[in-house]
Amino acid sequence: MGFATNAIHVGQEPDPTTGAIVAPIYQTSTYVQTELGKDKGFDYARTKHPNRQALERTVAKLEGGQSAYVFTSGMAAIDAVFRLLRPGDHAVISEAVYGGVFRLSTQLLVHFGLEFTFVDTSSHDAVLGALRPNTKMLYVETPTNPTLRVADLSALGKLSAERGITMVVDNTFLSPYLQRPIELGAHIVVHSMTKYLNGHSDAVGGAVILARQEDAEQIYFLQRSAGSGLAPMDCFLVARGIKTLAVRMAQHNTNGMAIARYLEAHPKVKRVLYPGLPSHPQHEIAKRQQRGFGAMLCFDLDGLEAARRLLNSVNLCSLAESLGGVETLISLPALMTHASMPPAVRQQIGITEGLVRLSVGLEDAEDLIADLDQALDKV
Ligand SMILES: Cc1ncc(COP(=O)(O)O)c(C=O)c1O
Repeated sequence: MGFATNAIHVGQEPDPTTGAIVAPIYQTSTYVQTELGKDKGFDYARTKHPNRQALERTVAKLEGGQSAYVFTSGMAAIDAVFRLLRPGDHAVISEAVYGGVFRLSTQLLVHFGLEFTFVDTSSHDAVLGALRPNTKMLYVETPTNPTLRVADLSALGKLSAERGITMVVDNTFLSPYLQRPIELGAHIVVHSMTKYLNGHSDAVGGAVILARQEDAEQIYFLQRSAGSGLAPMDCFLVARGIKTLAVRMAQHNTNGMAIARYLEAHPKVKRVLYPGLPSHPQHEIAKRQQRGFGAMLCFDLDGLEAARRLLNSVNLCSLAESLGGVETLISLPALMTHASMPPAVRQQIGITEGLVRLSVGLEDAEDLIADLDQALDKV
């Protein structure tokens, strides 16, 4: 079946008891056993419940994994993946990674004997140079948040296979509709489902999708032992959002490109970072490995005051963290999503104080352009 069909039907079969086309929300903590040691497939909601199981089937199918596990947030999912490592292990991470991953690794996981090196994963040589005998994981965000650097997943997949390293890809920015990392060599895909998978800014959740059985067993053990599995209501909301993922992403592509072109032509904008523009340094790689360019973009204004003026002048775009919803969100990574990074690191990877991030939503593109236009006039 095609992507849109799978998104609507896999894991979303009508409820066997009543025929309800949408499965009910199983808002229960425990399940009655028919006799001692015998149940109907569920015993306690921390370990497993029908809404979670259904969503996990959908997500695994869409990413082309053998299984998936869904968590209370993207960060809980990512934390579970890093716990596959053992003290003394080393991981190489994209340097322009989501700020929360930087915080988790450098401020928490280092205390458990894990070592991390941050490199520009769009440079094959930089990745190669960072590998050590104890490197067990390569954690790639592509495109990166917020600098939109694109890594060559096939090349990194080949390298990981040769060196016996587990390759993890954060596919949050594109969703499986636009990029399928497992087909390009990744062993594990992670998502903040809070973003495009849910798509409606009304739930927080994360997913880990696995290509290998041995990783799947460990991740499920972790989910049920640590109790970090997603609750029924949130599973229901994300499952509902996923049904329209294909049409939403197609329209996000169109809107993203329209806004990127508008901004690139604006005299007050110093540069636009969007993999769909021929001016983007990894445009050709993005064209090859992605089915579209998505709706995340950044642009540089002349410093913090110019950016502040813009952010305070927009009306239709909402000044908020997060991304991937139907509404357009605008933010300043240096002071918001990436505030936990030391200023020197931010500067090194190009997160200037004038760098504005847009998560282009599904409003009419001409309305968004009119809003940005009046706000840029005030800069
Ligand atoms: C690329 C990326 N990965 C992971 C996360 C973390 O997800 P969550 O906020 O659902 O914990 C985010 C959050 O913004 C993100 O942008």
